Amino acid sequence: MSTRPPTPAALAALRAALGPGGWLDASGDVEPYLRDFRGLYRGACALVARPKSVAEVAAVVGICARERIAIVPHGGNTSYCGGATPGASGEEIVLSLGRLQRVRAVDGAGYSMTVDAGVTLAAAAAAAAAAGRLFPLSLGSEGSCQIGGNLSTNAGGTAVLRYGMMRELVLGLEVVLPDGRVLDQLRSLRKDNTGYDVKQLFLGAEGTLGVITGACLKLFPRPADYVTALVAVGGMAEAVGLLGRVRDRFGDAVEGFEYVPAAALALAREHLPGSVQPFSATPPALVLVELAAPEPWPELGARFTEFLSEASDRGGLTDAVVAKSGAEREAFWALREGIPEAQTRAGASIKHDVSLPVGRLAEFVARATTLLAGLQPGARVVGYGHVGDGNLHFNLSPPPGTARGSEVERAFLARAPEVQRAVHDLVAELGGSFSAEHGIGRLKTGELERYEDAVALDVMRAVKRALDPLGIMNPGKVLAVPGA
Ligand code: MLT
Ligand code: ZN
Repeated sequence: MSTRPPTPAALAALRAALGPGGWLDASGDVEPYLRDFRGLYRGACALVARPKSVAEVAAVVGICARERIAIVPHGGNTSYCGGATPGASGEEIVLSLGRLQRVRAVDGAGYSMTVDAGVTLAAAAAAAAAAGRLFPLSLGSEGSCQIGGNLSTNAGGTAVLRYGMMRELVLGLEVVLPDGRVLDQLRSLRKDNTGYDVKQLFLGAEGTLGVITGACLKLFPRPADYVTALVAVGGMAEAVGLLGRVRDRFGDAVEGFEYVPAAALALAREHLPGSVQPFSATPPALVLVELAAPEPWPELGARFTEFLSEASDRGGLTDAVVAKSGAEREAFWALREGIPEAQTRAGASIKHDVSLPVGRLAEFVARATTLLAGLQPGARVVGYGHVGDGNLHFNLSPPPGTARGSEVERAFLARAPEVQRAVHDLVAELGGSFSAEHGIGRLKTGELERYEDAVALDVMRAVKRALDPLGIMNPGKVLAVPGA
């Protein structure tokens, strides 16, 4: 398996297949495709292909297969792991799905919708809403991330507790295979036991097995009523206790359960002007709890308030505010969803995207905090996220007041490998995952080698060899060494 730099003739063939407006190669034009969202990587490429149809995607991939040119599929460029950024050689082409923007069909009665890969998550959700339905994937980057990227990274977000990750929202898939053939599994069936579930291979594969061009997605009834609250709690153990009780009482009405510790609230206060600060004294942590009912359920708010007062009698929560309007609900979510931006504005950070069995989250937080205090004295642990599904963004910021580019910041970042190793080893010991929802990309290939079961890695390599024997699809992502 080895790829080759594109020859002038191959580039000419690609340009001809794409037609005017279908490709970019001027340095200023390709620049946005060469950098990842977090600024971790900067690559180079021979051409950015911008096909406008599935047939053009197939033509591009077919030419690349014939010529052994490596392809880097590219969606909304919001990956946290560099999955859509080309390497430095300049021998790869970037294949942008951004012009495949058609909502092909919305079937309200069948609760499904078929969309092109380049439709943004926000546009897909809007199309579902226009038909009176809900497409429930919910991420901070919804305005720019694309469905193809959501599928390729098996995106998660804030509604996984109720609706599952992207993988669980897929009924059918259309994929251009590494040899240029189109796999058409674009069915909307709920029941379809016809052999292997082939489409699953491409979900979460980060473009290493083919190019997703379209998908048939599950839709749900649109909630008619929301109750959204910020609840002050004593810490992770209390949050997990509250999660159990709220799910016991309200079942599947619980759609969101997000954890925001005091350190994250402090970042929001400092870096998100106008963000809500709901309690006069900052609690050790708060959770954003959201309940949703498919039909107007006037007593839902009253029942939840009653539940909160019972829960506070039993300890664990100290205060709570319930949103009184849609605008207040949005402000609560803006506080939660603004935390990553607040941490970015605060300066450098070391990020972890881990998941654990929910029952072990409190132990993890306690032990990891002690570990990090030893490794990075004075640094701030900012561990927030989707506690309802066991996923924490357990990030670290340098000591308050650390200037950008300072010696202290450099020393802090220099210890990132050691810090990440300690956190991920602990996660593994507790039965968790080092990559909950952000994927592997280029950033975590070493972690995959270290923590994944050896047999599972063998199976992954066998699948990669079977589907992409030439190794042209997104080289160096997910599997750093695809195997001979
Ligand atoms: C989030 O949940 O806010 C994101 O997945 C994490 C992040 O943006 O850092
Ligand atoms: Zn997240």
